Amino acid sequence: MPLRIGGRSYSTVGHHGGALPTEGDGNKNLGPAYFSLATGNQKETQERLMKSPEAERLSLVNKAAKRIPRQYQRRAAAANEKNHGYAAQSIQEAMKGAPVRTTVRPKVGAEAISRGDPGNRSIPLKQRNIIQITEDGWFNRLDPKLFQTSDIPGDCQASESTENNGTLTVHWTNDVAGYDSNHVSEYSLEAIKKQVLKAPASSDIVHQRIPWDKTTMEEKVMWLDYDEYMNRDETLFDALKQLQIYGLVFLRNVPDSEVEVERVAGRMGNLRDTFYGRTWDVKSVVNAKNIAYTHQYLGLHMDLLYMQHPPHIQLLHCLRSTSTGGASLFSDALHAAEALYRAQPRAFTVLTNYPVPYHYDHAPAHYYANTHPTIELAWPRGSVSTAAPPGRPAPPPIAHLNWSPPFQAPLRLPRHDVARNRFRAFQAATRDFGRLVEHEDAVFEHRLGPGECVLFLNRRVLHARRAFDVGVGERWLKGAYVDSDVFESKLRVLGARFGGGQVVG
Ligand code: OGA
Ligand code: ZN
Repeated sequence: MPLRIGGRSYSTVGHHGGALPTEGDGNKNLGPAYFSLATGNQKETQERLMKSPEAERLSLVNKAAKRIPRQYQRRAAAANEKNHGYAAQSIQEAMKGAPVRTTVRPKVGAEAISRGDPGNRSIPLKQRNIIQITEDGWFNRLDPKLFQTSDIPGDCQASESTENNGTLTVHWTNDVAGYDSNHVSEYSLEAIKKQVLKAPASSDIVHQRIPWDKTTMEEKVMWLDYDEYMNRDETLFDALKQLQIYGLVFLRNVPDSEVEVERVAGRMGNLRDTFYGRTWDVKSVVNAKNIAYTHQYLGLHMDLLYMQHPPHIQLLHCLRSTSTGGASLFSDALHAAEALYRAQPRAFTVLTNYPVPYHYDHAPAHYYANTHPTIELAWPRGSVSTAAPPGRPAPPPIAHLNWSPPFQAPLRLPRHDVARNRFRAFQAATRDFGRLVEHEDAVFEHRLGPGECVLFLNRRVLHARRAFDVGVGERWLKGAYVDSDVFESKLRVLGARFGGGQVVG
């Protein structure tokens, strides 16, 4: 009988994954259903939940519903009626106290293999691994760890489990050294069920990045009031979410004082100190070492790529702008990378693995030098997430973009044919990427006025400045940086307080 959930009907027959026991095979199988949802599908579940909280929660719940053994379908349907379609609760109610005895089967799948447990492709290891993480990391956070992941033998397997009064008891074969044959693991079914519905770990940033072009940013641009940003944590949260999602946010009514950029950055946490100082001035100076301190056009770039860990967030507070020109330009390098992937996947790949050198060569004071690929993929793969346009192939997850032509070090032209061909391929790909980021449809322009402060993700959103007239008036920005750990910590803390930091089913 189909179970009606959220206005849609689902047949429960034939939807079980091959690895899940079905009712017909002699196993009463409440345990493995939860078990597998709680262990095997974390990433998938998490990705789904991040898309659109309600639709995705429902689809997840529907998926869980498909795995409900037939004898609980009627109870679930009745509960669902009573709960006005709140399916998650209905499923829990229907299954409450269901006495089952079951064999835990390892979940077989490409995912387990692709995670590549080192030196061992054994799926039971992975299962045990996740159970351990589950047990130690989530359910018993306060207990000391009794063993570590590397202690788990490759042939360790969950054998039998029993469920009694909401506790799932798992027996193991080839257990971790030091445990005798009486050792069992106990899990709260309720806690496992919660994990099913609340997929992301509390440390995951759940706000999906949305790549943008000029038109999108003109629609989505966010201006916040300085006083609110400084005094209301909800507004700070809005700013940080906007940064996480779009990588660009503006403040207005910032007081005319040199200390303000530090105060604004300080709302997130500690500032990133560099040889430019905790805060620094962008003014035109005579004989500038750095093109940034001239009045010339400064092309789209990221700051400090000559460092190993370039700053994550950049702030620029405008103190004076009476000279003509000097507008700020912004372009989303994530958008360009994804467009490149769709148009020319090979060029995308070239940019993920061709090292580009950057330097700040001003010895004896400083000589910073580092190399980054233009497109830096995320590892582990699940650690960032971007909303993919419907129907389009999603590129591999990108952690950062690295693009800073004004600060690039000389590239060597390789002598040997193979390397030279690679170099030519890189050149072609970099030209294409450059055209994408600089395209007029990609670039959002705003001329900062006094009292305005822009915050942007330095490793995603490129910034540039039009030339300005030094003969007339004055232009003075004051800048600061904040690192990713500081920013993400604050985003998690505010997410836990105001919602959106965790997704709860
Ligand atoms: C810089 C810079 C922007 C500006 O100093 O790195 O990008 O608007 N300045 O002057
Ligand atoms: Zn800059």
